[in-house]
Amino acid sequence: MSIFKKIVTYRPSFTVRILTGLISMLIMLSVCTFIGLADRTRLNVRAAEFDARAVEAGAKVYFDQCARCHGVKGEGIEGQGPALASEQFVGRIELVRDDMQLQSIKVVVPSERLNQIGWTGSLRDYIIAVTESGIPIKTSNAWDVNHPTFGERFGGPLRGDQIRDVASFIVNYGLDPLPNDQAILPPAPGEGQAARPTPVPLTPAQEAGKALYEAKGCTACHAIRGVGAQGALGPNLTRIGAVAEERIASDHYKANLQGQPPATTAAEYIRQSIIHPNAYIVPECPQGACLANLMPQNYEQQMTPEELNNLVDYLSSLK
Ligand code: HEC
Ligand code: HEC
Repeated sequence: MSIFKKIVTYRPSFTVRILTGLISMLIMLSVCTFIGLADRTRLNVRAAEFDARAVEAGAKVYFDQCARCHGVKGEGIEGQGPALASEQFVGRIELVRDDMQLQSIKVVVPSERLNQIGWTGSLRDYIIAVTESGIPIKTSNAWDVNHPTFGERFGGPLRGDQIRDVASFIVNYGLDPLPNDQAILPPAPGEGQAARPTPVPLTPAQEAGKALYEAKGCTACHAIRGVGAQGALGPNLTRIGAVAEERIASDHYKANLQGQPPATTAAEYIRQSIIHPNAYIVPECPQGACLANLMPQNYEQQMTPEELNNLVDYLSSLK
């Protein structure tokens, strides 16, 4: 009881009171600093996670909207669109952390392309600008189309955050860019204006095959340069005559063909792909790995033998 009374009635000297006040203030300050610092690390972890999420969300936008012209690996597609993963376009970057553990991008080799076209802003801003509002003129004959406008403001399907995400995804290619010789590089400004070679005229049988290709709905899933609608669920068939030769010579074909004898000519391969689509599943489609059971299985019943011959004849001529 007497201790309790002592505590209650304790009256320290003025100096002791000031000292206690000072010390508790110091303790409080250091606790605040400590919490602040800890929170800063947490904030940066959040920021890094946020970046990773943006890249992931951007990848989805890329495969839905861009891969059909710019390629599954950003390698570009002949006539459809230039590479976006090439070292020429993205340069080379590294991710570095500063003292505050803040993740940032260090440009090791800058984009040669931006230099070539004289863009003085950042790579990210260039990607956002082209994606949002397109390129109003066709800069060379190398491409079939003008750039689509993707921004909502320009009547396109993408919101601002989706465009920023896809830009983050493309900039990220700079961590591991494709060597330039594995990519379709755009012509330099002012080049690539030469008229295209006149296409070899089709025979009447091939013309009939082409009409059938359009009438049977193949365009819903496939694209052929210069031919109407452009689907992106199945492989691009612009050079299928030449691609078929590469396929039958590949080990992947020999190892994975099922239930059918191996094709020995391009035409046989194409016929097999149309009437037995599941015998061999092509490895890469514009939106990632090709899916089995997607291409209709009953084309043989939908066409007369002559129609099928014409279709195969037409596709074999595409090289
Ligand atoms: C219909 C085909 C097509 C689609 C779809 C497409 N692009 Fe393009 N893209 C092109 C063509 C063609 C060019 C070259 C145009 C030119 O230089 O005139 C190009 C150029 C670009 C460039 C400039 C490249 C350079 O080297 O200067 C960027 C960036 C780009 N596209 C981003 C995108 C993004 C992001 C998407 C998806 C949201 C996309 N594109 C979808 C056809 C397409
Ligand atoms: C519903 C989508 C769909 C339709 C419609 C479709 N295809 Fe396909 N096609 C695919 C897919 C997916 C593949 C790749 C998977 C595989 O090998 O079966 C493919 C593969 C092919 C291949 C092999 C391509 C290569 O690079 O080796 C040819 C040739 C082909 N299709 C021709 C046609 C023709 C001709 C028609 C129309 C009569 C047609 N397809 C209709 C989805 C489709």
